[in-house]
Amino acid sequence: MKITILGAAGGIGQALSLLLKLQLPKNSELSLYDVSPVTPGIALDLSHIPTSVLVNGFSGNSAESALKGANIVLISAGFARKPGMNRSDLLKLNANIICNLIEQIATTSPKALIAIITNPINTTVAIAAEVLKKAKVYNKNKLFGITTLDVIRANTFVSLLTDKNPEELNVTVIGGHSGVTILPLLSQIKGDTLLNQENINYLTKLIQTAGTKVLEAKSGGGSATLSMAHAATRFCLSLVRALNGENHIIECAYVEGNGEYARFFSQPLLFGKNGITEYLSIGTLSTFEQYALDNMLDQLKIDIKIGEEFVK
Ligand code: LMR
Repeated sequence: MKITILGAAGGIGQALSLLLKLQLPKNSELSLYDVSPVTPGIALDLSHIPTSVLVNGFSGNSAESALKGANIVLISAGFARKPGMNRSDLLKLNANIICNLIEQIATTSPKALIAIITNPINTTVAIAAEVLKKAKVYNKNKLFGITTLDVIRANTFVSLLTDKNPEELNVTVIGGHSGVTILPLLSQIKGDTLLNQENINYLTKLIQTAGTKVLEAKSGGGSATLSMAHAATRFCLSLVRALNGENHIIECAYVEGNGEYARFFSQPLLFGKNGITEYLSIGTLSTFEQYALDNMLDQLKIDIKIGEEFVK
């Protein structure tokens, strides 16, 4: 199994590379690419860790050597927010980077599963889909925006307010990955009287604004990298397990589903040997969640349309 990370020299990319070097199954291959010339050195550094995961690193303008034969490509390349910016402000910096990398994937590893971390995810995934479509290699079951960071934040924050073990929680988070488009379905957590409506309102806001809080706390030094790397590792390992034939692997991700809410939408998904095998229901929503869902859709559709039109 070959996993390629595009943007491997950045804050997320380096932490993600380390976690995957430690956690990928034996004899996996980890291929690192970044425009930065430090990338082969990062691979060499990691290669001294005694696990049987082979690591290679490539830099320069072409990602081709890193992409050849990849089963999964994770994209963390691009710029992070600075305090005062919305995720959508990153579009002018990151859209061309995504186009360029996806074009290279389309020619070099068109069958790979592609998971995007680069913000604004609500839009970069739409851009990627359009580029793949243009290249006639788009398979909607193989393209994901990683929203696992919202899930792990929800698990953590719920556990802090209740007596639940964060490692046993798995909150479903639907919608997109920005502001009000992030919607944790906290009413689906059973059996905790502390999760009354007042606390649900509070936690929902906390989860929606968590990325901005990290950004502010880092005082201009970037956005979330370590928790994001953990989230992307969890997501990648789920894909790896499914590709290796394990059953019942379910994760939420931002994908092109059946269009019931928006063309791209984060929802629970069942993974199999070819990516998504089933788009699972989001389940029953409370009145509060239904209202929040209805109210996010205009924004989400605008974010998607910007991506679609960028490629035309
Ligand atoms: C996050 O949620 O932390 C990331 O999307 C980074 C950001 O800009 O908030």
